[in-house]
Amino acid sequence: MRTFAFFHCLYICTFAFAYPHVEQDKLSRRDLSSVRWSGAIVTAPEGASFNEITSTIKVPSVTGPIDAAYSAYAWIGIDGWGGLNNLFQAGLDVRGIEAADGTYVPQFRGYFEWYPEGANFSTPDELPLLSGDTMLVRIVASSSTQGTVYLENERTGESKEYNFDEPSYALTGRYAEWIVEEFSSNAVPSNCIFEFQSAEAQMQDGKTLAASSGSLVQVQDGRLVASFDNSDVKVVS
Ligand SMILES: *[C@@H]1O[C@H](CO)[C@@H](O)[C@H](O)[C@H]1NC(C)=O
Repeated sequence: MRTFAFFHCLYICTFAFAYPHVEQDKLSRRDLSSVRWSGAIVTAPEGASFNEITSTIKVPSVTGPIDAAYSAYAWIGIDGWGGLNNLFQAGLDVRGIEAADGTYVPQFRGYFEWYPEGANFSTPDELPLLSGDTMLVRIVASSSTQGTVYLENERTGESKEYNFDEPSYALTGRYAEWIVEEFSSNAVPSNCIFEFQSAEAQMQDGKTLAASSGSLVQVQDGRLVASFDNSDVKVVS
């Protein structure tokens, strides 16, 4: 699942990238705008970089639409923002799958990706996920080109680990984010609440930054609205 990040830095610079989807102006420290992303973003202080990010993601209840395909991805990741051409991400894939009777029913899968390589998904067999479950997601970059994704269903205790080696792009560790992303051609699931809890990113020196210390980013079309709820990040569709 391709992601795009691109923004206009008010302070010193403009990033220019070849991606077809262009982010809009950066409005202020705590109010960023994006084509497809709503959530929270933290930036590493000068000289520091992120090598770990973690959060729980609550599997939402999805009631519709029942007559159309829909999808949304709730994920955490390192890099990707600020025009960076790489992104190490993992999280929850939510989509409406057409059933035999023609209605659309929700399917939940874990997924993990080191962009620009394609996404891989956990199968419902190896990691069953139901509405109301809490999935722990942890991404550890052991170097700029190696890392591990850890997914755990906290209700059942089932967990999976996936190792990455030698992706096409090395990480910088400049950004970490907790995001719900829409897929342009589909609806997002209606009246859905995505919650990221215990959301923090760790830097090489062991210091951590909470998601709630970061900036909120909002999809321009208003289909996904992000807010801070105490130390949690909440995105409502
Ligand atoms: C993703 O899937 C591809 C194709 O099955 C496989 O070669 C690759 O190792 C998988 N990546 C991870 C991190 O498991």
